[in-house]
Amino acid sequence: MDLRIIELGKKHLNDCVDLDQKSLNGIWSRSQWERELNEPKRICLGIIELDTKKILGLCSAWLVIDELHITFIAVHPMHRMKGLGKFLLSDLIKRSKSLQANHIHLEVKDKNEPAKAFYKSMGFKTVGNRANFYKDGSDALILNKEINNKS
Ligand SMILES: CC(C)(COP(=O)(O)OP(=O)(O)OC[C@H]1O[C@@H](n2cnc3c(N)ncnc32)[C@H](O)[C@@H]1OP(=O)(O)O)[C@@H](O)C(=O)NCCC(=O)NCCS
Repeated sequence: MDLRIIELGKKHLNDCVDLDQKSLNGIWSRSQWERELNEPKRICLGIIELDTKKILGLCSAWLVIDELHITFIAVHPMHRMKGLGKFLLSDLIKRSKSLQANHIHLEVKDKNEPAKAFYKSMGFKTVGNRANFYKDGSDALILNKEINNKS
């Protein structure tokens, strides 16, 4: 597979809505995705398969002062466990260094074992939790990764 990371914009709206549906049962509505893709302070990245032009994974994040907050990351269910998530998150981490971020921060569902294993393998540490954080009453773990801008 010939893959590349690209910055996503409004022309990728349908791809984002579709991948969100397939991966997380649509955590954001179409209009939320529209806002996300039009907001200049957001970093939205996708993995594109060059032959088919399909978006196989995507992530979105906000930079607030020196902290990057990841709000969404998903890989198409047919392409998981092949290193795509790592490829995407490593690229986001590289970009966050050039944006002078010192920490990366996110929430993950306490019950989401694949995502927890994924973040652990990427060096994230649990720094707290929020009870009843999600609509279904699940708790969230707060994860953090320190960024060394010199490396
Ligand atoms: C979490 C997610 C993005 C991981 O993407 P992926 O492309 O499958 O992950 P990778 O293949 O790059 O795996 C990277 C590491 O995570 C680990 N990992 C990923 N999925 C795993 C699973 N199901 N079980 C155990 N470990 C897993 C891998 O073992 C790998 O570790 P290694 O590098 O030490 O071998 C993907 O499972 C996904 O899209 N899930 C649904 C959406 C979601 O839950 N997003 C997170 C919301 S907070």
